[in-house]
Amino acid sequence: MNKYIIAFFIFSFFGWIWESIYCTIREHKWANRGFLYGPICPIYGFASVLGFIIYDLIKAGYLPSIKWWMIFMLGFIVSMLLEYPTSWALEKLFKARWWDYSDIWLNIKGRTSVPTSLAFGFAAILAMEVLIPLVDRGLSFLPESLLFILSLILVSIISIDTTLTISSLTDFQKYVASIEEAFQNHMTDIVNRVYGNRNSFYLKAIQRIAVFKLPGRKNRIAKQLREKQFVELIKDYYESDVVKQMDNYIQHGTTTTLEHCENVAWISYLINEKLHLNADEKKLVEAAMLHDLYLYDWHDGDPSRKTHGFDHPEIACINAVKNFDVPEKVQEAIRSHMWPLTITKIPKSKEALIICFADKYCALIETIRLNKRFGLRH
Ligand SMILES: [Fe+2]
Ligand SMILES: [Fe+2]
Repeated sequence: MNKYIIAFFIFSFFGWIWESIYCTIREHKWANRGFLYGPICPIYGFASVLGFIIYDLIKAGYLPSIKWWMIFMLGFIVSMLLEYPTSWALEKLFKARWWDYSDIWLNIKGRTSVPTSLAFGFAAILAMEVLIPLVDRGLSFLPESLLFILSLILVSIISIDTTLTISSLTDFQKYVASIEEAFQNHMTDIVNRVYGNRNSFYLKAIQRIAVFKLPGRKNRIAKQLREKQFVELIKDYYESDVVKQMDNYIQHGTTTTLEHCENVAWISYLINEKLHLNADEKKLVEAAMLHDLYLYDWHDGDPSRKTHGFDHPEIACINAVKNFDVPEKVQEAIRSHMWPLTITKIPKSKEALIICFADKYCALIETIRLNKRFGLRH
């Protein structure tokens, strides 16, 4: 077996040299022949190994010895039989032709032709009478262990070469991407179904699996889950008429107060999730959505707006209590969101601290109007 593997490579290599020289001369430019990247034409290897097996069988007395004209006929027939299906299969698989005998006499669809097969008949005589006995003798001098290692190395190389060649020829990456796409869609379906049942335990479990199993950069499932969960959290506020009023006023740059609140809620939600702070998500988002519920345009020039920075957290808190009956922790977070401007209103909870930071981050990004670039929602 080792002998045949090595012979396969030797003849594939000689085939490659022969073809490359022939085609370079014909086309007046360098032609790297063969199907693979490496310097081999496997079709010569296959044909020669077939010849080698016949040679060995004759040598061992299993087959009667054959005359040169029989070798010629055999070469002629085998090349006819080998070239047609190989050319057809390569064209079907990779939509390209490695040889085309269309301009040669007596060809069959350009895949095989009588003159080239006659040449292969002569080549078969050369192979059977000279080359194969020569290689056989040469290899017999090498120890079995060396033949084994050599064939192992050669098989490894051709495996890599074949993988690279096939992957570059068949849009292999696109195929893998389409499988991933189908998988992601399937997972999204499951997630949607779970969401239909509103079972947060299963949802969290799937989210964990998705985050664990898939690479972060392309993790569409984790992203969709995060988005869905967030939308679910802010839904009640978004549907409220009081909260909607915030959309009538500009907060920073071109961002309305409602958009600002949603940005702060989103950034707070992300900070909590990414840093594993374990803050109460519901209270965090509630406080963030209502933290600027003061309901006026602070740019309108009214003299009372001069102290807007200090006053509005309290006004927003009163509105939040009036309309949503928010718990104490949420009230605290709303009151302290302007700290350190409101020096005595220190953020005392995790939620309050996160909002205090997220508010400043969003205010800065909105003022320089790079909202989308820096991960804000609006
Ligand atoms: Fe504010
Ligand atoms: Fe704010």
